[in-house]
Amino acid sequence: MDDKIYLDLIEKATYARVNAYAPYSGYKVGAALLCSDGTVFKGANIENSAFSETVCAERVAFFNAISKGGDRRDFKAIAIVGGKNNKIIDFASPCGACRQVMREFCSDKFEIILYNGKEIQVHTLYDMLPYDFSAKNLK
Ligand code: THU
Repeated sequence: MDDKIYLDLIEKATYARVNAYAPYSGYKVGAALLCSDGTVFKGANIENSAFSETVCAERVAFFNAISKGGDRRDFKAIAIVGGKNNKIIDFASPCGACRQVMREFCSDKFEIILYNGKEIQVHTLYDMLPYDFSAKNLK
């Protein structure tokens, strides 16, 4: 994909981040999930005083997309932007649980786009979750 698509998704993830609910960690994350038809689904992290009930931005974006139904389940890429106290200074790499949810719905070539305020990193899902457990194991 070309840089314009990456930059557009990063911008959408940055907007999504505004709606993060993170009163406990102060670490706000936004995610923008691109479908093959160009639709973008957004998500932000939602924390809870019972900490384990917190849901990450990436999973909110996926569940938002999946729960809409229809056939917009052909996912191409996700941009993730995160940081503490409104500063984006490092790459917010997806946690293990989010990588596993990506595995459920995406191919090895699915792109994970990270942005630290200056540089862009693009990883494939295969790079981020090798030796995976997935539906193939249950066949
Ligand atoms: N968080 C995400 O939204 N995505 C990740 O992949 C890692 C962590 C959120 C969860 C929590 O609200 C905050 O970042 C600090 O862990």
